[in-house]
Amino acid sequence: MLLMDSSKKISFNRCIRDGDLVIIYERHDTMKAVKVCENSVLQNRFGIFKHSDWIGKPFGSKVFSNKGGFVYILAPTPELWTLVLSHRTQILYIADISFVVMYLEVVPGCLVLESGTGSGSLTTSLARAVAPTGHVYTFDFHEQRAASAREDFERTGISNLVTVGVRDIQSEGFPDEFSGLADSVFLDLPQPWLAIPSARNMLKQDGTLCSFSPCIEQVQRSCETLRSDFTDIRTFEILLRMYELREWKIDHSKFEDGSSIAYPPCKRRQPSSEVSVGENTSSPAVVARPSAETRGHTGYLTFARRKCDS
Ligand SMILES: C[S@@+](CC[C@H](N)C(=O)[O-])C[C@H]1O[C@@H](n2cnc3c(N)ncnc32)[C@H](O)[C@@H]1O
Repeated sequence: MLLMDSSKKISFNRCIRDGDLVIIYERHDTMKAVKVCENSVLQNRFGIFKHSDWIGKPFGSKVFSNKGGFVYILAPTPELWTLVLSHRTQILYIADISFVVMYLEVVPGCLVLESGTGSGSLTTSLARAVAPTGHVYTFDFHEQRAASAREDFERTGISNLVTVGVRDIQSEGFPDEFSGLADSVFLDLPQPWLAIPSARNMLKQDGTLCSFSPCIEQVQRSCETLRSDFTDIRTFEILLRMYELREWKIDHSKFEDGSSIAYPPCKRRQPSSEVSVGENTSSPAVVARPSAETRGHTGYLTFARRKCDS
């Protein structure tokens, strides 16, 4: 996940090695994570790919199957990992994640507390943000989920940046050992207001908190609890609109008034009796339109800053 060079800079500027986790990219909606193993093969609709052909190539390489089909081998960034990880719970996606990381002011060296861990989607981005010297302590009360998250963090190479604990944060709060040490706390819990008093005690003065909740009633209740010890309380809903870009053929000869009509290039058209479409009257054009995959409401992000004691 986080490939470091000898200067400890986060870098993907190295070649693929035996044992690396890579993302096999067929198209933007068809990707999967694969561990490179010298003697293994990947088989898909494009043919058989030998892992040994990938070793030594840079990330981003186009590699070919025995039938001449191809895929790209990409580095397992948190952005791509979020799209391929196994969903054991609802997860946070990049629109919310990117806003959380920025608005919580998570930077290298930060100590971040999180609950619940869930599928570890947010955790992987938090880990990259605190690397190489910070740490994320994430807690989930579900033992199996915590164990699976630990395994994923091993696979993605971030286990040195993340510690997963099993704990009921709503009833027990975060462990006292973090008291006054956390730069930021992130909550994705069904009753976050129960964990807010503990989160407050964990935060450094001026530290930042974020709570993700799908329902506005949860937000209202959390804000009531936040008022006593926090300031600058703000709630956001992040809506992302994705676009599809396709190359279409524009037919300039279609209408007498000079307007034209666009056709997707791969669709076969029946010859029309009204207009004859000559080969030389159509030209390719890129057409952009909102994607049908665009997500609507995911949840509300409530941010607050711990008040100073004085
Ligand atoms: C929606 S998931 C979190 C998803 C995560 N943010 C992600 O991006 O993958 C919520 C998690 O909170 C955990 N959880 C619920 N109540 C909890 C509690 N009282 N203490 C700790 N974890 C809890 C659940 O087991 C679940 O894994």
